[in-house]
Amino acid sequence: MLPERFQIGAAEILVGCDLDETVRIAAGQFVAMARNRVAASRDFCVALSGGSAPRPLFQALASEPFASLVPWKHVQLFWGDERNVAPGDPQSNYSMADQLLLRRVAVPAENVHRVPTGNGTAIEAANQYEQVLREKLATQRGWPRFDLILLGVGSNGHTASLFPHRPTLHESRRLVVADHIEEVGGWRVTLTLPVLNNAAQIIMLATGEEKAAVVQRVLQGPRNPEETPAQLIAPEQGKLTWILDMAAARELRRHENDGKPNDVKRTRASW
Ligand code: 6PG
Repeated sequence: MLPERFQIGAAEILVGCDLDETVRIAAGQFVAMARNRVAASRDFCVALSGGSAPRPLFQALASEPFASLVPWKHVQLFWGDERNVAPGDPQSNYSMADQLLLRRVAVPAENVHRVPTGNGTAIEAANQYEQVLREKLATQRGWPRFDLILLGVGSNGHTASLFPHRPTLHESRRLVVADHIEEVGGWRVTLTLPVLNNAAQIIMLATGEEKAAVVQRVLQGPRNPEETPAQLIAPEQGKLTWILDMAAARELRRHENDGKPNDVKRTRASW
């Protein structure tokens, strides 16, 4: 069955019929963006997310047909957030990407910019990472601009490490902040919303029936960003794409978009 494609507000929604197709859609978008960027003689600057959703995507990007299509030596890798743990810790978002992707593709070590956690405080790591973003990224409107930021969404509506009711949701000056999150019992380091929403493209990847309720709440529920921070993801001059499997998209009303019927199309996945 062909994937669904429809709009909800400014967000493009792509729905794969199962996890494999959903991952192929996401990997295809990554490859296309990387190749377009490098064809314009620029490095492709991408921030990866953590959690479990990206695991199959990283495995896909490290395998054919995708691995040999990505111009890895011109890819600059960053992270949208990180736990305050050492790089080899099983909880580390970097460690997951390293095991599933970095060790299997030819991205140069000097192009991998992990959040420098594990040898100091989370606040120190956030301050250091701000410098990395300033050095490595071009700016637009005074903020570092990523070509792509990959994000997930937690069942509580958080994204990156921007959690409900946290002051970090209102950060308007810093690029990167540290926050102690009771709910997860530890410190996190996260890009701030001005940086996230300055990206050329954001892909929100969510799969599995356990995400159906939060996906519907973020996209079609009452506007309540304090409760549901993922509602604050809205690139100012960029594209927002939600890539979902049918399980995670199950509660979305396909025929309602600010009162106007959605024109749900079934289009051939780019891969
Ligand atoms: C992290 C992630 C986080 C993640 C969501 C969804 O550090 O945990 O960056 O923001 O994207 O928690 O996680 P799952 O995909 O595991 O549900």
